[in-house]
Amino acid sequence: MCGIIGYTGESEALSKMTKGLSVLEYRGYDSVGVALQEDGEIKTVKCRGRIGDLEEKLKQSPSHARCAIGHTRWATHGGPSDRNAHPHRVGSTVLVHNGIIENHKQLKERLIDLGVEFSSETDTEVAAALLDLHYQTCNDPVKAIRRAMEELTGSYAFGILFDGAKGEVYAVRSGSPLILAKGKDGYYLASDMTALLPFTNLYYPLKEGEIARLTPTEAKLFDDESKEHAPTWEQTDMTAEAAQKDGFAHFMLKEIFEEAKAVENALASRVDENGLPDFAQDGIDAAFWKRIRNIQIVACGSAMHAGLIGARLIEDYAAIPTSVYIASEYRYHPPVTGEGTLVIVVSQSGETADSLAALRYAKSVGIPTLGIVNAVGTTIAREADYCIYTYAGPEIAVATTKGYCTQVAVLYLLALHFAKIRQTMSPTRIKGLLDGLRVETPYAIAEMLTQERMQAYRRIAQVFQDRDHAFYIGRGRDYLLSMEGALKLKEISYVHTEAYASGELKHGTISLIEDGTPVIALCTEPSLAEKAENNVHEVESRGAHVIRIYRADCLKKHEADTDTIVLNAKSDIACFFSAMIAVQMIAYEAAVRRGCDIDRPRNLAKSVTVE
Ligand code: AGP
Repeated sequence: MCGIIGYTGESEALSKMTKGLSVLEYRGYDSVGVALQEDGEIKTVKCRGRIGDLEEKLKQSPSHARCAIGHTRWATHGGPSDRNAHPHRVGSTVLVHNGIIENHKQLKERLIDLGVEFSSETDTEVAAALLDLHYQTCNDPVKAIRRAMEELTGSYAFGILFDGAKGEVYAVRSGSPLILAKGKDGYYLASDMTALLPFTNLYYPLKEGEIARLTPTEAKLFDDESKEHAPTWEQTDMTAEAAQKDGFAHFMLKEIFEEAKAVENALASRVDENGLPDFAQDGIDAAFWKRIRNIQIVACGSAMHAGLIGARLIEDYAAIPTSVYIASEYRYHPPVTGEGTLVIVVSQSGETADSLAALRYAKSVGIPTLGIVNAVGTTIAREADYCIYTYAGPEIAVATTKGYCTQVAVLYLLALHFAKIRQTMSPTRIKGLLDGLRVETPYAIAEMLTQERMQAYRRIAQVFQDRDHAFYIGRGRDYLLSMEGALKLKEISYVHTEAYASGELKHGTISLIEDGTPVIALCTEPSLAEKAENNVHEVESRGAHVIRIYRADCLKKHEADTDTIVLNAKSDIACFFSAMIAVQMIAYEAAVRRGCDIDRPRNLAKSVTVE
């Protein structure tokens, strides 16, 4: 996600901006900029690239400003570029933003009709134009912000400078975090406390809908009746490292806790007023979808595991033949391809060399390509004919969690979209299935992360303290999720884990089951529960230590014991994501017990840019 910082006071502002933005680099970004107010004049300097590139640019125009805002951008709407970088100036208003303005298209059309000219592809510039429209009318920053808020939908944290408001920094938030701080030499704002720790430890988390005005000598808050009051400053003893993790022990854990929000972001602006899937905002025309007769999903690792789920969903819901290929194998034995083939490349980083090579192969033989990517503006995103971003935000931990989660969410939405286009399901059924993702899943994910659940994961993970071999088993979709569960356990706790179709184990591999072998059994499909449970008994009777992750109504014959995680979600998709949280958390707790480097496992890289 983007990083925001602001300052006004008696000291020079620019060095505070670059230092604070450097601390925010961990959030991931692809462009950076500052707005510096000096003698009432606001100068904006910004560029695609790193903070060092910005500092080079700033050397050409030294500044002694004591009032400034700064921003590191993690591109969402509009790829990384100089003109899409923040801050954005429209008229007398200069804005930095973290979040997604969901109604930016409608607002932009109205503002263009009013004569506003836009220079970027961003939703932020639209917000700046709306703020300026009101500022020009009422010439009062607080009123202008309040009026703009009434028209904005989506998530935002704003840092704002206005011409004519000398030495004043304004801030407001709705759905994205924003922190105010009080230093010895003035007042600050930032996306998170990390950026402000170098200057002060007195902070105030801005409340939803509260408008703040910072001047060199005071901070004022305006509630929704524009009643003025002062912040109640709190003191923190947080370290910068802890602040980057928002108080979580590891980035992986923090990112697991971000998954519910990530699913919401992945769906934002992609569900129409009838509750049906709609990818119009991704710039993909309806004719493109209608031509598709078969699909090849190509990816690596967890992205490939997400692809397996996606393939199952597309075939089940839209009856389009869909196969999944390991990217590093794809071009050495390319599948037979007919008319109407679509290649979908799934990639969190958008830079995985194997996946990029497969994409380039598909394009070289004239197959239309679609990227499902998290990192905006990356090579796969740019080279695919079309791209659907997952909007999970920057993923710092090497082991993907929210990246995988949003890949599945987007593929689920895509499967329902194909079903709508091909009318293989009624709109009512499609809406019902989509509500399972949009409405129930965020709550189901949150329910899997309660303190009680965390204690269960910690207790269950004890078995891995001194076990180096384990199995995941499941049938149907559970077998596909087992693959992801096994990979998580392997890559962060170094437990050698194999995922097996439950019914296949007895055809040989069951010989490896011995006393105490951990076997994690997934069962979320009631129609398969009886056979799945029989397979569990086959390993249990040979001494396996069985951990069940079962949907409540799959527990027919088995009484839940301390090694059973009961999933309470009602819809299939919410149940899937509940089980996903359980497999991610068991891997996490196993790695904690085994003292592994959870965010940076040995031998692994976040993005594998070699073939
Ligand atoms: C997942 O935890 C791994 N880090 C790895 O399997 C990853 O999913 C794979 O390398 C693909 O990466 P990508 O999604 O960035 O293309």
